[in-house]
Amino acid sequence: MHDTHVAASPINGKKTAITSIRNDFPHLQRQVHGRKIVYLDNAATTLKPRSVISAITSYYENESSNVHRALYTTAGEATLRYENSRAAVKELINAKGTQEIVFTRGTTEAINLVAWSWGRANLGEGDEILLTEMEHHSNLVPWQLLAREKKAKLKFIPFLQGGTLDYDAIDTLWSDRIKLVALVHMSNVFGTINDVKQVIDIAHSHEVPVLIDAAQSVPHMPVDVQNLDCDFLAFSGHKMCGPTGVGVLYAKQHVLEAMPPFHGGGDMINAVWPEKSTWNDLPYKFEAGTPNIAGVIGLGAAIDYVQRLGMHKIRILEEKLTSYLLDRLSAITDVTIHGPRVNRGGAVSFTLAGLHPHDIAQYFDAKAIAVRAGHHCAQPVMRKLNIPATVRASVYFYNTTEEIDRLAEAVIGAREFFKHGI
Ligand code: ALA
Repeated sequence: MHDTHVAASPINGKKTAITSIRNDFPHLQRQVHGRKIVYLDNAATTLKPRSVISAITSYYENESSNVHRALYTTAGEATLRYENSRAAVKELINAKGTQEIVFTRGTTEAINLVAWSWGRANLGEGDEILLTEMEHHSNLVPWQLLAREKKAKLKFIPFLQGGTLDYDAIDTLWSDRIKLVALVHMSNVFGTINDVKQVIDIAHSHEVPVLIDAAQSVPHMPVDVQNLDCDFLAFSGHKMCGPTGVGVLYAKQHVLEAMPPFHGGGDMINAVWPEKSTWNDLPYKFEAGTPNIAGVIGLGAAIDYVQRLGMHKIRILEEKLTSYLLDRLSAITDVTIHGPRVNRGGAVSFTLAGLHPHDIAQYFDAKAIAVRAGHHCAQPVMRKLNIPATVRASVYFYNTTEEIDRLAEAVIGAREFFKHGI
């Protein structure tokens, strides 16, 4: 099978080969150790198209001014571009209004914002938060901190062998002390797409709000917050062609209105006296200080890029690539894939019998193949699997079956290399 899948070009809207998309990403031209790079670490961060890089450069070159403050022309232009990005996020996830979109530094900060602001106001001693056993540390440690402070308890929906959630366990785990459910949409270890809608419906039947960690889902598939009816949703720009250091917290308007501010400072206030202040309207109440203006503008350009390609199309392309990747890996003796075969995204974790994932990743690097090896910020998952780490190859829409062939050859190569020590 070769690199023949086609897609609507994000540049001109016509049917063009994948090569046209790949030409948008300068990093794909990189050589490492004398070979063209195979970038398969997209769950950690994705590459950036030229349009995103230019949007950031253009802000610094042409509109370098602060937002929401000054009356001069370039400040107005910067503010417009900043707020256009908010409108783009609203469209992408189908929020009801831009007041529901708060810019943060990323998924981690968005979840910390909810834990600190909503959590401190709504949790008390003996209350419970329901998570899953497959959470990234970002959707675990903030709740541990909150639980410690409030003397609250964390409960976990278990995952089954194969990396899917045990939805039947929810009934048994449920108690009227649960005040929040927080779970990952797409696992960064297993690739599993969790049935978050089912969990949201159960939680809402008890009038309990739900937070979705959408760091791995929003970049790869259509996500509609009104359809899901989630109360909070967090994701990052850098995992969807955008820059690092910028992300989004979506929350329902009435929920954000009832929440106290997170950070205090400029822009988040309405009126300030020496002893007290009143708060700005949404979403600015949660955006204290000069924000990451260039990052937000870059995120807007990234959303424009993926939207022109189409989230449905991206999902279809990645399903094909993932299926091909699973086929190639599962045909190799000694490979164990950790994760489901279906209802999944393109983050594929695997181990090779008798070899440490770090050795494999280093061998891959010598072949110019970039993957992540480690615990993937999910140490409890590794502990339950009774392994120290996995190798994770994760695809995005610009990857090709030829790159996956190179990966598969390298897996076989690593197995032989370490067996015979050539
Ligand atoms: N959360 C990112 C990952 O899974 C960094 O690699």
